[in-house]
Formats: sequence, C-alpha cells, structure tokens
Amino acid sequence: MSGPTSPVPVPDVFDPRQYARGVPHDRYRLLRDQHPVAWQEEPEVLGWPAGPGFWAVTRHEDAVRVLKDSSTYSSYLGATQIRDPDPADLPFIRRMMLNQDPPHHRRLRVLVSRAFTPKRVDRFETVVRERARSLLTRAVTEARAGDGTCDLVTQVTDDYALLNLTDLLGVPDTDRGLLLHWTQRVIGYQDPDEAGVPTLGPDGKPVNPRSPAALRDMFDYAHALAVHKRRNPADDVMTALATDPELTAPELEMFFFLLVVAGNDTVRSAAPGGLHLLAEHPEAYARLRNGEVGLATAVDELLRRHPPVLTFRRTAAQDTALAGTRIRTGDKVVVFHASANHDERVFPSPLTLDLTRSPNPHISFGDGPHVCLGAHFARLQLRVLYEEVCGVFPAGGLSLAAPPRRLVSNFINGVKSLRVGVVDV
Ligand code: HEM
Repeated sequence: MSGPTSPVPVPDVFDPRQYARGVPHDRYRLLRDQHPVAWQEEPEVLGWPAGPGFWAVTRHEDAVRVLKDSSTYSSYLGATQIRDPDPADLPFIRRMMLNQDPPHHRRLRVLVSRAFTPKRVDRFETVVRERARSLLTRAVTEARAGDGTCDLVTQVTDDYALLNLTDLLGVPDTDRGLLLHWTQRVIGYQDPDEAGVPTLGPDGKPVNPRSPAALRDMFDYAHALAVHKRRNPADDVMTALATDPELTAPELEMFFFLLVVAGNDTVRSAAPGGLHLLAEHPEAYARLRNGEVGLATAVDELLRRHPPVLTFRRTAAQDTALAGTRIRTGDKVVVFHASANHDERVFPSPLTLDLTRSPNPHISFGDGPHVCLGAHFARLQLRVLYEEVCGVFPAGGLSLAAPPRRLVSNFINGVKSLRVGVVDV
C-alpha cells in the first residue's frame, strides 16, 4: 500500500461528521487545484475502526476516467464503499451487480435493464404527480393550521421517494414501512441521530448493515414478494424480474436490495437538496415558475449542485498513475462526485446556480458501466415534484424558516429537515 508523498498539507474530506455542516467546497477546491489525487487517512470515527487510507479523486476528468476504466479501477475487488468490507462478507457483497466488473457485470445489467424500460417507467408519471400534489397540499394545509411552516423532508420528500419506488417495484401498501426501515439502517448508519439504526452489536462493535446477517430479513421478503408476483403478475419491476427465467433467485433477491437502497435514499436526498437550492435562489425559482427556464435543464443543474451521492470507491487492479500520482495494485481509489461537479475546468462559475446550464456533464448519476439504471425514473420524479411545488408555492414564497439539518455521512448527501414558510397569496 502506498502512503502520502506530498509535503503540502492535504485537507481531510473523509470524516463523515463534517458533511453535517455542508459539502466542504473549499477543501474540494484546494484538492482539485493542489492535490487532484490526494492521500486521505482513515482514522477511527464514531466507533468504526480505522482503515488503511485511500486516494481521493476530485477533478472531473480523473473522476470520469476512474469510473469508465473498470479494468484498472475495479468495483469487484474491494466493493464500492470507502470502508473495507469484512473479508468474510466479500463473496456475498460481490453478488450485487454494483460490486461487479465487466464482463460479468454485463450479464446482470442487460437482464435487469429489461425491467426498466422508459415505457414502463413513464406509465408511473400520473401516480407520481398525484402523490406530489397530495403530499404538498397536506403539508401546506397543516402549516396554515399550525405555525405557518412545514418540513418538506418529513412531510413531503421522504414519503414521495419511498412510495414512488414501492409503486415502481410493486410492493404492496402494507409493506412500505419495512422498506423505509431497511434503507435507514443501511444508509443512515454513520449518523447517530437516525431512527432505528442499530449501532453496536453484542461484541460492542458497530454492526455492519450490509453484512449477510443484517440483510437476511430483506432477502426473505424479496423471495416472498417474487413468489407473490408470479401468482399475481402486474405491470411493475418485481413482476418483470420474478418472471424472467434467466434471473436466479439469489440474483433477484440481491437486486431487490440494491434497488431499495439505490432508488430510495438518492431521491430522498435529491428532492430536498434541489428545493433547498431553489429556496436560496428566489430569482431562479421565479424564472422556473413563470416558465422562463425549462424543467429538463433545471433538474440537471439542481442535481449538479446537490449530487445525492458524495463518493463511490474503486480498487486499483494494477499499478497505474492518475494525474501524475502513482497508484499501487490494491489501493483504494475514491471518486468525489460533488467535487467533480464543481470543477472549474469543466463548469464555468461552478458555484453559480444556472438553471439553463448546457452542456451540463455532471456525474451525479456516475459514468461508465455502472451509470445509474434509475436515472430516467429519478429525473421524472424530480421534474414532477418541482412542477407541483411551483403550483403550490408562489414566486418568492419558497423561503427557509430554519437552517436545514444534514446527514452525518461521507456517502449520501442527505437532508434530514428542510423547514419552509408557507405564505398565503
Ligand atoms: C437522483 C437520484 C439518483 C442518483 C443521484 C443515483 C446515482 C447513482 C450512481 C452515482 C450510480 C453509480 C454507482 C457506481 O459508480 O458504482 C448509480 C447506480 C445505480 N442506480 Fe442510481 N441514482 C439515483 C436514483 C436511482 C433510482 C430511482 C434507482 C432505481 C429505481 C436507481 C438504481 C440504480 C442501480 C440499480 C444502480 C447500479 C447500476 C450498475 O451497477 O450497473 N438509482 N446510481
């Protein structure tokens, strides 16, 4: 394993606690300018053991290169989270397509893509819109009856993301609470505040929420749901997967887990992240509301400024060099999406919110073989939500009533609370 060689101090962008204060743009900029591939220590944090350290990749060009070149930067060797998995769990984790490399990855990707056709996804627009409208109307009504404010996260966007995903998958209404519990356990585990997160196991060590033991109940559920779907087919993703003869039962269960995590917390982050930006930029919001700027470019610009995923990890499969830095076989290489999205080498005035920005080659959905499978569904949900928000909140009426609360995580750019004032027109 290689170590640090640069004499100039390198700021820390690993500690998950700093992300509760905001994305560390100043540190990212320093890294991009001075140490584009920077060695990061991985000390013990919040009871999690120390790790060997990793390379932080912060420039757009290098991030795209890492994401595209899977033969040099593997998703399989050490999986895709910064923290090293327990070696005993690795074979299990590698059954998920997220943690595979081509050519193996390709087989699963082709199979599950069949269930995600734009035609199937687009059929959900009507229900998604009704949901946005009813959640927003209820939140505004409650605000008027109360202190004139509502929390867009707990009253609108958390339910919106989860319920849209359960519709797409075909999860019955009665089981939706289970999905929320599972995603909170897997994503919120670095945040001591997150409800229902089991932090310590019987040995006094934090429980790894991605271990086979912790996921057993979710897998049993996926199995039972697939049996149900074969008997009661419908036009949803789980029916398409359960009736595909080429997908094995363990593959289907693993894919269900991937979808529950990948499809929920990302939208749960993107939606309030985008609304927060609009609340901070009333002139941009007014232009969106009166139709001066298009929703398609607006959705992508909001995703660029607030990428729901902060990092994804790869492992060097061979000795290589990136931006002049030597990387050894086995080193961890971590892409920092929020930094790449604000690289001034690619995006003019990167901290400016420009809802008409085009081209906008942000990497919020990743790049290369693992580029997000749910991007079309995510964009649909965000476009519909912003459209409905524009109908409910008057120009200048989307204003913060309190500073947002953010998740303690170096993985998900999470917003836990976004309280806004409701103004009567
Ligand atoms: C704004 C919302 C979303 C964002 C920002 C996002 C982001 C990402 C990113 C960055 C990756 C690449 C991972 C890597 O490089 O290793 C990814 C992969 C993936 N996403 Fe999303 N995602 C979003 C929504 C969704 C939704 C709604 C679904 C499903 C309903 C979904 C399903 C997936 C799957 C299955 C993969 C794995 C693809 C593969 O390994 O080939 N995502 N996503």
